[in-house]
Amino acid sequence: MDSMAKLAEIEQSFKKEVETCHDIQHLEDIRIKYLGRKGELTTVLRSISSLSIQEKKEVGRQANILKNLFSDKLTEVKEVIDDKRELQKTARIDVTLPGIPVKPGTVHPITKIMSQINDIFISLGFRIAEGPEIESEFYNFEALNIPLDHPSRDAFDTFYLDDKYLLRSHTSNVQIHVMQNQSPPLQVIMPGRVYRPDAVDATHSFMFHQVEGLMVGENIKFPNLKGVLETFCKSMFGSETKTRMRPHFFPFTEPSAEVDISCIICKGKGCRVCSGNGWLEILGAGMVNPKVFQAVGYDAKKYSGFAFGMGVERIAMLVYGIEDIRLFYENDIRFLKQFV
Ligand code: DAH
Repeated sequence: MDSMAKLAEIEQSFKKEVETCHDIQHLEDIRIKYLGRKGELTTVLRSISSLSIQEKKEVGRQANILKNLFSDKLTEVKEVIDDKRELQKTARIDVTLPGIPVKPGTVHPITKIMSQINDIFISLGFRIAEGPEIESEFYNFEALNIPLDHPSRDAFDTFYLDDKYLLRSHTSNVQIHVMQNQSPPLQVIMPGRVYRPDAVDATHSFMFHQVEGLMVGENIKFPNLKGVLETFCKSMFGSETKTRMRPHFFPFTEPSAEVDISCIICKGKGCRVCSGNGWLEILGAGMVNPKVFQAVGYDAKKYSGFAFGMGVERIAMLVYGIEDIRLFYENDIRFLKQFV
């Protein structure tokens, strides 16, 4: 092998070895192997005297270039290794440093109010039930005595998914599921999301929450409904809260009523929130229509019951004095963190 080829081979193997070198001792071994007194490159340099003048020039020049290149590379790798060592020393975990605080989240105001509502009814002997948000017309309408051509169906404006399914427009659908699966007596509350294609503004949203209630048994009468709702309103809005019932129409209850509470802002004197009349409407209720019992196969002669439904956003807005429903859904931390 001539000397130039030998140099090329030395360069190759040096590069390979230095690339994979990660510690100082190994680096020193490489230096000795190539640049030491008996090193491979040193040996070539020593043998130059035996070469022809032409070769001497060529090989001498190349060998010196490599000598500089090797020592530069060795210095460079040494620095990298030293830096790493230094970093490892200082990067050790200091367990005495104070920790980085994790900010706890807060319960969403809608979830808070919904749990408060649930808790009050649970204390009155009700159990929680849930039902599907994607629903058939039977559960959302027909079984609740709202036939296809019934004008009241407009009041429950609905998102249709296809010919068969829709997004439930109220939680009353769960009444039907519960009654199909359980026999009386029963006392259930049914919290959940509902959907209506309303234009979004300060008091409307295409999605909101309701809590539905249902009690069925023998001899359940209107005063039982009144008692339960009055107890609920006092627990929810304060013991001084008055309630009143106004006749209303719902297809699934007969008779039906809308329930008002004395305004929690002005205590019934009249203010902007209650439009000056001292009362706030908060829920719909009534005695279960016998037609609903028929739809689920209950004996309408033997059993009677009451039902009610309320909007959670409306109650949360009243309790917290929030004037725009959209604030609940914008996920603005500055708003949400106020409800601890
Ligand atoms: N489903 C009604 C609505 O969305 C609320 C309601 C009224 C539910 C009267 C009831 C009830 O169970 O008896 O407006």
